Amino acid sequence: VRMSAALNANRLDELVSLERGEVDRRIFSDAEIFEQEMTLIFGRAWQFLCHESQIPKAGDFFETPMGRDNVLTVRQRDGSIRAMLNTCTHRGNAVCRAEEGNTKAFMCTYHGWSFDLAGKLIGVPDVEKFYKGDLDKSKYGLVHVAQLESYHGFVFATMDPAAPALADYLGPAGRIAIDLIAAREVEIIPGVQKFTIDCNWKFAVDNVFDWYHAQVTHMSAVASGLFPPAEGEVEVGGARNTLGESLDIPSGLMGNGVDDLVLVSEFGHAAAGPSVDGLGGMPIDTSWRKRPQAVEWLGEVGSKVCGYPNIFPNAWLATAGGQLALRVPVSPNRTEIWWFSFVEKNATPDQRKMTVMLAGHIFGPAGILEQDDGENWAQSTQQTYGHRSRQVPQLLKMGLGRGKVVKENGLARIEGSTSEHAQLWTYHAWAQWMKGLDWDELREATIPPDTL
Ligand code: FES
Ligand code: FE
Repeated sequence: VRMSAALNANRLDELVSLERGEVDRRIFSDAEIFEQEMTLIFGRAWQFLCHESQIPKAGDFFETPMGRDNVLTVRQRDGSIRAMLNTCTHRGNAVCRAEEGNTKAFMCTYHGWSFDLAGKLIGVPDVEKFYKGDLDKSKYGLVHVAQLESYHGFVFATMDPAAPALADYLGPAGRIAIDLIAAREVEIIPGVQKFTIDCNWKFAVDNVFDWYHAQVTHMSAVASGLFPPAEGEVEVGGARNTLGESLDIPSGLMGNGVDDLVLVSEFGHAAAGPSVDGLGGMPIDTSWRKRPQAVEWLGEVGSKVCGYPNIFPNAWLATAGGQLALRVPVSPNRTEIWWFSFVEKNATPDQRKMTVMLAGHIFGPAGILEQDDGENWAQSTQQTYGHRSRQVPQLLKMGLGRGKVVKENGLARIEGSTSEHAQLWTYHAWAQWMKGLDWDELREATIPPDTL
């Protein structure tokens, strides 16, 4: 892989410093870095495509971006699943204009080349007249992803034939992330919410670990009554309103130094948030965690995780509500957000209704929390473009050097108070990916240290 002068290994270690807890702002707006991310990260990592319940019947398809490649995941007649690029092998036009649906074949609207469900080229208009026997159709099928696997119904693919198997890639932390939803025996709620935010994709990723922002950023959500009444008031030391008054913030929300459970793992997956025991007054159903399947899949630590794990690079699991969000990079300062919402298969109509209501009101284009967050990500991205502003490093040093990493059963966890370990770990892993290491080197470079 070509490494540009700007991105040699030394430079990458300067861009993200585990020692200082600093991140160079240029990684959020530099066009060359963005291009390298498309190749070195999105061109290699396993990425979520869809849930099997979205494509139950032969001919069902769903389109998902992997970086800037558009991929069609298609249920085959024999029940298997295949995924291929939505780009015609003639002149590259999309062969499917629908985002999801059911079809018998894909026909390109440019010159009419047609492909079957497995991507085989089955029709070329007037092939004899135009090609005079000089077109071997068997050579021009749609291009498939290099590997495709389903983990508990969650379908992933990678463009890299050398990538390790999916379960290995996910590791215990990534598997727990999915199990936290899959163990409830779910199916998708039809309709994926998609919208854009003018931010770099990485801001939208790392914010899931940020339990420091909620008390201030989401004050409006608290004021609106979205959350239960607080059990007490805490002063957020130092926060002042425009009148210079100290702000009292309801402690019922989150992030007030509650016991924190951080998981970090190989390849850059991470999770952070209160453990189930630290949830306080949040109206979250945790009873399913005691079901045999959940106990078996999640294990002792996993059954306590209540935060938002991220499967590197860009799939984060909102475990409380049973949602998966993709942060899809479009350009350095534009990101598509995709929300997949799940519901238990045997949910009552009322429970379904409640799930849909929450999915629409919390995150997503009309979600009160995501509106709060999106503004911050957009502003933070914008400030990385200024000639002088971009020279000011970002700080992710909360708890730095005080996080004792406990490694047990393949899981690396840190328990303590709210920290920025998970964010910093994600950026450290990002830097390793951007070095273009081979898979063994990458695994080695992202083994969690003993202290963070
Ligand atoms: Fe698809 Fe020509 S580009 S048929
Ligand atoms: Fe938030």
